[in-house]
Amino acid sequence: MIQVQKATKQHVAGIISVCTRGYWSTYKELASAEYIQRICDEFYHEARVSKEVAETSNHWGGYFVAIENGTVVGAGGGGMIAEQSAELFVLYLDPDRRNEGIGSKLLAEITKQQLTLGATEQWVSVQQHNEKGIPFYKAKGFIYQTKQRGYATIENEPYVSLRYKRNI
Ligand SMILES: CC(C)(COP(=O)(O)OP(=O)(O)OC[C@H]1O[C@@H](n2cnc3c(N)ncnc32)[C@H](O)[C@@H]1OP(=O)(O)O)[C@@H](O)C(=O)NCCC(=O)NCCS
Repeated sequence: MIQVQKATKQHVAGIISVCTRGYWSTYKELASAEYIQRICDEFYHEARVSKEVAETSNHWGGYFVAIENGTVVGAGGGGMIAEQSAELFVLYLDPDRRNEGIGSKLLAEITKQQLTLGATEQWVSVQQHNEKGIPFYKAKGFIYQTKQRGYATIENEPYVSLRYKRNI
């Protein structure tokens, strides 16, 4: 059985594992290895994830994890970006566990948290051409709004982020 709960420090290694593997599997055909490594090094390491599990606020609601038999199989989190606007900042699964409803469960818990904080709309940024992510958000009612330069791009890197929004 899969359970979704707020992450604690005992889940830090599982979050790093799932996010790193999920990130590589999602972006290996869309971005250079150098770019993927840079993002994973920035976000998914012990010191940062430990802090992100321990310190939460309106702007970062902490990680939620999907757990099966004690193993983290998915992780995600978000926060408020304006008084009534929330954003999903991260959502990754064990790459072998897609399309079983785990992403839906994580999104539902994160959304519940954001509703209690007063959100009426929810945003997400997805890299252009990410066909492992975009159809999921479309199925959940997100609608394309704008495009912007990809997060953490340097020099001439061509990565573009698409911003999607839904009412919640
Ligand atoms: C995005 C992700 C978290 C979704 O989680 P998931 O557990 O695979 O999705 P679910 O099984 O809950 O699917 C929910 C719905 O999305 C649809 N869906 C999901 N992925 C899809 C795809 N690639 N193509 C078409 N539909 C898709 C499902 O059909 C389902 O539709 P329904 O609710 O109408 O039945 C997961 O696939 C993933 O880790 N993707 C790679 C990482 C990624 O891109 N993360 C987002 C970065 S912003």
